[in-house]
Amino acid sequence: MASTLRDAPDDHAADKPLLAVLKGGRRDPPPVWMMRQAGRYLPEYRELRQAKGGFLDLVYDSDAAAEITLQPLKRFPRIDAAILFSDILIVPFALGQNLTFVAGEGPRLTPPLATAQLADLNPVPARLEPIYATVAKVKAKLEPGKALIGFAGSPWTVATYMVAGQGSRDQSDTRLLAYRDSGAMRALTDRIVDITVDYLSAQIDAGADAVQLFDSWAGSLAPAEFERWVIAPTRSIVEALNARRPGVPIIGFPKGAGGKLGAYARETGVDAVGLDETVDPAWAHGALPDGMPVQGNLEPLLLLAGSPHLEQAVANIRHSLHGRPHIFNLGHGIIKETPIAHVERLMASLKAAI
Ligand code: CP3
Repeated sequence: MASTLRDAPDDHAADKPLLAVLKGGRRDPPPVWMMRQAGRYLPEYRELRQAKGGFLDLVYDSDAAAEITLQPLKRFPRIDAAILFSDILIVPFALGQNLTFVAGEGPRLTPPLATAQLADLNPVPARLEPIYATVAKVKAKLEPGKALIGFAGSPWTVATYMVAGQGSRDQSDTRLLAYRDSGAMRALTDRIVDITVDYLSAQIDAGADAVQLFDSWAGSLAPAEFERWVIAPTRSIVEALNARRPGVPIIGFPKGAGGKLGAYARETGVDAVGLDETVDPAWAHGALPDGMPVQGNLEPLLLLAGSPHLEQAVANIRHSLHGRPHIFNLGHGIIKETPIAHVERLMASLKAAI
């Protein structure tokens, strides 16, 4: 039954299920990958990290980063796409902030733009180049049926880290900056848009088949601010990339956007939207434009718990989205304590058509 629903355009995308779905085709069972699939829940990742040092050392060692990118596909042959092993905070690092990952505390960017000016930073664009080497190395080793996803953070989410200098619970420093000095916020956003277009174009040139924009903090903005700092800059990136690298699908993941998801889907121009686990897929099916591919949205904690309802939850998501192009994924990144056996159950539940 795996050959049902084959209505994809007849081009090379048909060889890669993930690309076929991003271009509007349907597949049953759906293609699958997991956000944060390259990382700490995998013993082989933890081993390499211990041998090579810190997270940034791994990102900047393109042989190690390529190996980590491919680890989840080796362990779970059902996975249809590799996602580049890197981080959204490489962009602030290239814009001239210093980046460190403090064990147990998460990332730190200095100086934070809450206290420093954008003009004080000296950009170091060469900090992006090793990432392209990783993309090329992965592409050279990837099986033909698998896709390679490049990525960047969305301007709003990247700005929240640049302003606060670290993760924050409600992004209030950045929301305040947007109200108090919208000119400064605009300049920062424009700067992130420009470098992100260059960065994603170069990832595509190095071999990325599709790209995803991670907007992890899209949920913290009031509606007018969401238009200004999420939708408008995302649209700028999409328009520029479509002009510079036509035909490469762009997935937008506005986590927490909730009722603003329909506006995001219609106004940004992204090819597909990722749903977080709080979105009812049946609602999304009604709220999103007909035929628009969606990605998601298993609750990562349910996967961690390995609840007896895991298979039922997977089936519910698939049934709800059966009428449209669907890429199976989690609603957010896989959590590091997730047992491998639970991921195996997830993959087994995606082997057959429904
Ligand atoms: O999806 C993938 O496997 C590709 C690689 C990837 C990483 N981070 C690797 C990583 C991707 C796509 C990201 C995105 C990212 N990074 C986001 C957006 C998505 C999301 O999860 O909300 C954000 C907000 C970041 C910033 C970031 N990076 C934080 C807050 C942290 C520390 C907290 C944490 O979860 O560890 C990181 C570190 C990081 N990025 C790790 C990995 C594998 C952990 C590194 C380690 O300790 O070994």
